[in-house]
Amino acid sequence: MNKSKERTLVIIKPDAVQRNLLGEIIKRFERKGLKIVGLKMMQLEDVMLEEHYSHHKDKAFFFGLKKFMESAPVTVIVLEGLEAVKTVRFICGPTCGREADAGTIRGDFSMSRQLNIVHASDSVESAEKEIYRFFNTDELFDYPKIDFDFLYSDDEKE
Ligand code: CMP
Repeated sequence: MNKSKERTLVIIKPDAVQRNLLGEIIKRFERKGLKIVGLKMMQLEDVMLEEHYSHHKDKAFFFGLKKFMESAPVTVIVLEGLEAVKTVRFICGPTCGREADAGTIRGDFSMSRQLNIVHASDSVESAEKEIYRFFNTDELFDYPKIDFDFLYSDDEKE
């Protein structure tokens, strides 16, 4: 696979939707040069959240996390680019907003460990699973974009 076509999943969480931050967050990914190849709003429900956060099932915060994630619709986005998984995690910052550097999404907009504005896939393997958890194949778009030639050097485009 072309290495500039790595994909990752971002969930813009209910706190960001309620706080009118959708545009601000999408803008940060766009201006970095990440390509939006899927985007939609959806209401998350128990079954999907139990699957998505199954690794947190035994944690004390699991019930609260589900309640929060169901409290309003979320926006799910698939972003594409060279090392997209790692790059998007840098842009988001660490889990706890209070500990995140200024300039990151969580550092700039979150005071919380749970209400932390975004979720981003943590590896290429989990991105693959997470993308198909939230998107059907016909909701993902493979299209040429005019800024591509000015985002990457020749060897990075291969
Ligand atoms: P996310 O990146 O979506 O992955 C798991 C989520 O669980 C995390 O962001 C937070 O929203 C939440 N979370 C992680 N740790 C804690 C914690 N200690 N207390 C409450 N919520 C947490």
